[in-house]
Amino acid sequence: MTTIISLCGSLRRGSFNGMLLRAAIEMAPSGTAIEPESIREIPLYDADLEEEHGIPPAVERLKNRIARADGLLIVTPEYNNSVPGVLKNAIDWLSRPGDDIARVFRGRPVAIMGATPGAGGTGLSQAAWLPVVRLLGMRPWFERAVLISDASKVFDSEGHLIDAATQRRVRAFVEGFAAFAGAQRNQEDTKVSVAAVGIREGVMASDPRGRVVTTLRMGEAQ
Ligand SMILES: Cc1cc2nc3c(=O)[nH]c(=O)nc-3n(C[C@H](O)[C@H](O)[C@H](O)COP(=O)(O)O)c2cc1C
Repeated sequence: MTTIISLCGSLRRGSFNGMLLRAAIEMAPSGTAIEPESIREIPLYDADLEEEHGIPPAVERLKNRIARADGLLIVTPEYNNSVPGVLKNAIDWLSRPGDDIARVFRGRPVAIMGATPGAGGTGLSQAAWLPVVRLLGMRPWFERAVLISDASKVFDSEGHLIDAATQRRVRAFVEGFAAFAGAQRNQEDTKVSVAAVGIREGVMASDPRGRVVTTLRMGEAQ
């Protein structure tokens, strides 16, 4: 199973980005689960809080979820031509402490999509996420884009994605990103099983006189 953690950058109940995320979850291909995680419990970043109390439990839990996932899907509104502060705040916490960035983010596939009732489709917000994604060492997927403008016309009053062209675009995006994230995971699995075979051979191998040569072989496997 390919697991993709998704974060929505809007907290409001009637969020268009929340609706977009729900559509993406429904369109996930078989073998892929898009699992939404809330950022609501994450406090405002405060270095004093971090120094005195460490990483808040909600942040630690989300870090671990992302670290175990095959990919991250960011569903972002655009505020003042840039990223929404609540989600940037969450990512800032998730990047603490700095020496844990590699475990949580480095090499992890990430895709970004967004919706706005305005005309720009969140293009500036999506672009504004890129320096963050780059700094964290993530692996962005750029083969398709979902930039939804006039969001009040493509979702109905119950939050369903009703515009056929947008449905097709979101489906292709989700399928493409799921394949990308799944392929990265398979590569990692291959590396792990090659290492495991190396270790097993090391344990079982012996030199011409029948002496076991575990230490040498295990060192090679690592
Ligand atoms: C402070 C603020 C700034 C905004 N700036 C932009 C903007 O730059 N571009 C845009 O397309 N929409 C902008 N909007 C409108 C948002 O796209 C709109 O509120 C949208 O519904 C937020 O996403 P949501 O529906 O997922 O909550 C802004 C809204 C707020 C409150």
